[in-house]
Amino acid sequence: MICLGIEGTAEKLGVGIVTSDGEILTNLTKHMPLKEGIHPREAAQHHAQNLKPLLEKALEKAGISLGEVDLIAFSRGPGLGPCLRVVAVAARTLALKYRLPILGVNHCVAHIEIGRLTTGAKDPLTVYASGGNTQVTAYVEGRYRVFGETLDIALGNCIDQFARELKLGAPGGPIVEKLARGGSYVELPYVVKGMDLSYSGLLTAAVKKATEASVADVCFSLQETAFAMLVEVAERALAHTEKEEVLIAGGVAVNKRLQEMLRTMCEEHGATFYAPPRDVLGDNGAMIAWLGLLSYASGARQRLEDTHVIQRWRTDEVEVLWR
Ligand code: ATP
Ligand code: FE2
Repeated sequence: MICLGIEGTAEKLGVGIVTSDGEILTNLTKHMPLKEGIHPREAAQHHAQNLKPLLEKALEKAGISLGEVDLIAFSRGPGLGPCLRVVAVAARTLALKYRLPILGVNHCVAHIEIGRLTTGAKDPLTVYASGGNTQVTAYVEGRYRVFGETLDIALGNCIDQFARELKLGAPGGPIVEKLARGGSYVELPYVVKGMDLSYSGLLTAAVKKATEASVADVCFSLQETAFAMLVEVAERALAHTEKEEVLIAGGVAVNKRLQEMLRTMCEEHGATFYAPPRDVLGDNGAMIAWLGLLSYASGARQRLEDTHVIQRWRTDEVEVLWR
């Protein structure tokens, strides 16, 4: 079976084509140029304008025609309403035109499943950190349960907003990672509440600190503090769930320092650390296609009229039928 997956929950548009054997035939992503934050309607327009050419390119790269596709999957949420709706309309149109089954799937769960597919991790604790989400999850009794998460802004959003305030560029993640090299530690607030995290106070403090300390020092310290908070929560979740693997997911997980800190924590606990390839860490279409295939194989079906988007859709609301 071949599944075409379309991703477009925020500013990135992705088209991926995956087989039911887990072979990724193609995985193309188009980034919207970002100057400031994401404007939902502009991002939706970007997706509407770029989907057709991206789809054609993806099919060409995979060496197949739309007639050979067996299933259409799309990211149904969580995400920005206007973006989700553009992707959903495109997916429905394709399903209707080619008389194909359609499945709207959960974006966060897709991040986890593509990580398991590409690394071979079987039952990991997942540390998922992106621009919109920061969650530590693990599979327990039919769902990906959330063991810790941010109480306010996501880790990626914290770094992006910091970079924007200092006019360092966008997205901030890779820029701050580079600038952090050679920096030394200046004190910033470390906020872990129970098993949850708070990044908004850290953001405010880091921006303020930049008026007195060097950019390198603040970038370094922002990373050290924000990542240590996440690793602490992951460590306690690992001890609690007794999982033997740790998997990273989401765009922030590309960060080498975060990976290093999590790897060290895993070594101390005798757990295996898994980092998926870069192109499946951030938002992409292949993860949507793969989750579509898993869901379809486990019996999930959706009527066209039931494929409305879900802007707020928690990871732990999804019934995991394929495990
Ligand atoms: P979601 O909808 O899951 O929240 P997203 O729209 O934020 O996803 P992703 O591609 O998963 O998209 O993540 C993008 C985030 O990853 C941005 O905040 C970006 O700054 C961050 N990022 C990318 N590269 C790095 C890096 N090297 N270090 C830290 N953060 C990074
Ligand atoms: Fe994402």
